[in-house]
Amino acid sequence: MASYRIALLPGDGTGPEVLREGVKVLQAVAHPFGIAIETMSYDFGGDRYLATGEVLPDSGIDELRGYDAIYLGAIGHPQVKPGILEKGILLRIRFEMDQYINLRPVKLYPGVETPIKGKGPDDIDFVVVRENSAGLYTGLGGIARKGTPYEVAVQEMVYTRNEVDRCLRYAFQTTQKRNKTNTLTLCGKTNVLTYVYDLWERAFHEMGAAEFPDVKRDYAHVDAITMWMVKNPEWFDVIVTGNMFGDIITDLGAMVQGGMGIAAGANVNPDGVSMFEPIGGSAPKYTGQNVINPLACVFAGQMLLDHLGETEAADRVEQACVAFLESGKLPGLSAKHIKEAGLTTSQIGDIIADLAAAG
Ligand code: IPM
Ligand code: MN
Repeated sequence: MASYRIALLPGDGTGPEVLREGVKVLQAVAHPFGIAIETMSYDFGGDRYLATGEVLPDSGIDELRGYDAIYLGAIGHPQVKPGILEKGILLRIRFEMDQYINLRPVKLYPGVETPIKGKGPDDIDFVVVRENSAGLYTGLGGIARKGTPYEVAVQEMVYTRNEVDRCLRYAFQTTQKRNKTNTLTLCGKTNVLTYVYDLWERAFHEMGAAEFPDVKRDYAHVDAITMWMVKNPEWFDVIVTGNMFGDIITDLGAMVQGGMGIAAGANVNPDGVSMFEPIGGSAPKYTGQNVINPLACVFAGQMLLDHLGETEAADRVEQACVAFLESGKLPGLSAKHIKEAGLTTSQIGDIIADLAAAG
């Protein structure tokens, strides 16, 4: 029997509510597939910080290294200044555990409404591979002459060849594995960021020609890509890009696939411990109301299973979500829709868990 140890980071706001449902579905699917899942929960987040002043102890990172995967709810607390928890927990885990890939599928499921007129599930199915460890997020920079009219602020976009190469390699491999149109699009800004995206573009073509000649290579500037993602999302198979652009275009991607209630992502270290999360945030306004959509977190759980090599169990989770979405029980994915439907976060979790267990 395959057995896995998963660290749970429920985090802030509605994080604990959605993660509970995500775990419920994992456990429901584990049994029929002969998988044992052991979980351990950590209370890193705003409440712990406010009570103890501690964001994430060094021992926490060391412990997290001992798990097969990390499953995160959400980070961000209304009483904590923005940046402290995001940098101290989310970004620290990504960086220190070298989760250098942020994999964000953009897939429109049947029964889900996209704001893009005339497009359906056949048109919206691509993956963004966001570099997750460097670029503008490296944190190099500073402020001089603070508070004067001559103040200077610098924030450096930093990339080494190795950081670019390892991300590109993962993106090429992802493209081969998906086997859709076998097209990898590099999203950059070579007309203005003539150093960093020059490096990306050279590395992209060199690696593609030498190691992945079967993968078609395409390039688009980031501003143009936001346009095409809305106008012709069917053009895309896999998009690879740097950290900052990836952050921005994946929020657009989330909207294109139906909203934050459904978008999930994986912070991947291909040789280490990876972390899976719904990308919607902590939604403080709805905390404790049991009205937030747990689907995004369930999809993050699907990615977790897939990453562990439990592809059949992962597929089963996806099928259960699709069956739920197609059942017409929900008129939409927002908290408002969930209330309208007379459902709760935990009831949706129950329904999907039952579907997943039954197969
Ligand atoms: C994301 C988030 C984070 C990011 C924030 C919370 C630091 O927006 O996961 O996309 O910028 O990466
Ligand atoms: Mn973001």
